[in-house]
Amino acid sequence: MGPSSTLLLVAFLGWAKGSSRHYSDSRSSHLYLEKTHGRSIKDSQCPHMLKHLHNGARITVQMPPNIEGHWVSTSCEVRSGPEFLTRSYRFYPNNTFQAHQFYYEDNHCTKPIYTLVVQGRLRLRQASWIIRGGTEAEYHLHRVQMVCHTATVAKELSQRPSCRGVMKGHWDPSVTYELWSEEDGYDCLRELNFAMHELQLLRVEKQYLHHNLDHLVEELFLGDIHTEPSQRLYYKPSSYQTALQNAKNHDHGCIACRIIYRSDEFHPPILPPRADLTVGLYGQWVSQRCEVRPEVLFLTRHFIFHDNNHTWEGHYYHYSDPVCKHPTFTIYARGRYSRGLHSTRVMGGTDFVFKVNHMRVTPMDLATTSLLNVFNGNECGAQGSWQVGVEQDVTVTNGCVALGIRLPHTEYELFRMEQDAHSRYLLYNGQRPSDGSSPDRPEKRATSYQMPLVQCLSSSQVTDYIQGGDRPLLPHNDCRGWHKANQKHIVVVLVVTLLLFWQS
Ligand SMILES: *[C@@H]1O[C@H](CO)[C@@H](O)[C@H](O)[C@H]1NC(C)=O
Ligand SMILES: *[C@@H]1O[C@H](CO)[C@@H](O)[C@H](O)[C@H]1NC(C)=O
Repeated sequence: MGPSSTLLLVAFLGWAKGSSRHYSDSRSSHLYLEKTHGRSIKDSQCPHMLKHLHNGARITVQMPPNIEGHWVSTSCEVRSGPEFLTRSYRFYPNNTFQAHQFYYEDNHCTKPIYTLVVQGRLRLRQASWIIRGGTEAEYHLHRVQMVCHTATVAKELSQRPSCRGVMKGHWDPSVTYELWSEEDGYDCLRELNFAMHELQLLRVEKQYLHHNLDHLVEELFLGDIHTEPSQRLYYKPSSYQTALQNAKNHDHGCIACRIIYRSDEFHPPILPPRADLTVGLYGQWVSQRCEVRPEVLFLTRHFIFHDNNHTWEGHYYHYSDPVCKHPTFTIYARGRYSRGLHSTRVMGGTDFVFKVNHMRVTPMDLATTSLLNVFNGNECGAQGSWQVGVEQDVTVTNGCVALGIRLPHTEYELFRMEQDAHSRYLLYNGQRPSDGSSPDRPEKRATSYQMPLVQCLSSSQVTDYIQGGDRPLLPHNDCRGWHKANQKHIVVVLVVTLLLFWQS
């Protein structure tokens, strides 16, 4: 099926979900979870986090959001291109803002190349109709300035036709150059594909870490950036980037936050150098929060990689709401994967190829169940036989047309691994193309990443478990920290999407 019909279906799903709120049956999801839990400790380790999410993570969402203050990146961020950057945004009581974007040569943000200083005005509008839980805003730019930190980037800039006027043939690292202002408009910004459309969608979350009322962490989510740089000027955000944290109320483990907080355009933040971790796809990984996708999908992900035979399994739990409480449907997919080389395009990334050849679908609410039953022909399991909470294998029907999924399917992936401030392993996989298509050709491989998954079970634990029979895993594994974190902290969430609405 083509992209247009998929979009239609997605829209239909969205409608169906919206209209079904009254009869969505949360008991069925409970049953489902309990079943998962009953199986064994090993199996319940990762779903445990999902349960905590469902019990109501201690996150509060501020509506309308109060964004006044100083917000900073928590790590080196990667945008499509790729571009490596850190951000430091200030929002003032008089509705103006000053945003610093620090750009780097490397994926650990240790070598600054230039800084943009963006000033303007921001006005919050209504709660978003499209992305529930988000708030729409309008911005107006006053001026955009640039400081170049290396001669190379200064030269490169001055060679771009529309940017020639900016430096007037003279580069000085201690001079701020005007890229654009209300008075005189160079078109250099367009040349750089620069837009601040991320300010069109906002969300502020508050949480108390470690159940400690003294340790408030505030996060500001801004709109996502189109995966195709040339489309950025025309794209209205429909999901979020990695959150910024409030400089006053940030996670104390965040070293980058403090470095970025103290920086300015003449003293760009230089993050501590780190080694690239070798990507090891083994063990189990789960989402850290309720994730939002373009096309209005909320979901959690849970992946299991078997490095012994290069197979993988993925659970994608879809919800109708931004805190992932009301399940709509679940997809289980599995297949093979193969590891490629270090990415030649994205420093620090590793290429992979994923194949999906088995899939099961479980509708979790009446609306999705009706939708699946409406479809004629044997194109998504047995026609007219779907029931809430009952899983069907759709491998025999080559996927599920109603969900826009065709099997077998191949995706070209990009991965990277990192350790967070609490020494947990994080796994990043490629951002889905913003146009809703699937990275089914090597040239469509992502150059930026989705929100990271956190490791909840390493493969050695699985082996131990198998060899040790029913021996509980908890006393000797890395997930202990995670459990602790889970009890003491907050949040959490679980599971799912590498392959969302892929198309053939
Ligand atoms: C808004 O407030 C900031 C910070 O106090 C100040 O620098 C700026 O000049 C003010 N802008 C306007 C238009 O009043
Ligand atoms: C791959 O290995 C895992 C774990 O050892 C096993 O559960 C799975 O069935 C294997 N898959 C295939 C296709 O051999």
